[in-house]
Amino acid sequence: AQPMIIAVDGPAASGKGTIARALARHYGLPHLDTGLLYRAVAANVLREELDPAVEADAVACCDFPDSLLDDPGLRTDEVGKVASIVSAHPLVRAALLQRQKRFAQQPGGAILDGRDIGTVIAPDANAKLFVKATPRIRAQRRHSELRKAGIDVTFDRVLADIRARDDRDAKRTDAPMRQAADAALLDTSFLSIEAAVQRAIALVEARI
Ligand code: C5P
Repeated sequence: AQPMIIAVDGPAASGKGTIARALARHYGLPHLDTGLLYRAVAANVLREELDPAVEADAVACCDFPDSLLDDPGLRTDEVGKVASIVSAHPLVRAALLQRQKRFAQQPGGAILDGRDIGTVIAPDANAKLFVKATPRIRAQRRHSELRKAGIDVTFDRVLADIRARDDRDAKRTDAPMRQAADAALLDTSFLSIEAAVQRAIALVEARI
């Protein structure tokens, strides 16, 4: 059988990560959350007290071991925001490109989630999903997660951050976030996690 490559793209808090992990379990495929690569660069920039807007500074932070990707410190909103700044630099994207392509091309197949998997990293993927939800619903999800984690932040702040990140990711010139022409659209706005995962499996099944 052909190795199966599944590409899952979409904005922050759309559900793409949860869906990608569930698909990986369902199909027994290795999974890479590519946002973690940009988050690792961002964490290095923050630790070295560099300016994420300066391309050369960000590029100098692109060498890191895979083990850094397991650091829970990568998952904060601050790191996510800086990740969306460093990710706009073409030389940062170039520095992380082969790592992602290699992961996608491993013999048994793979599933990757991010912003440009279906368009740039794995344009020949067997199945592509673009996962979305309204900004308000994504902000509600993120807000309740943050509140549960004991982080005191207003809904309006979270919504503004989500909109700013969407804007940066969709408007950059190099590999902007967009739905590939051959990607299936999955709107999770009014779906439970279980329903979204079932729908994702059905969409993949219809494409392989
Ligand atoms: O998905 P996550 O929120 O972890 O991604 C953090 C940031 O990394 C995104 O806002 C985006 O700017 C960047 N990113 C990207 N391309 C990817 C994955 C993430 O530019 N494939």
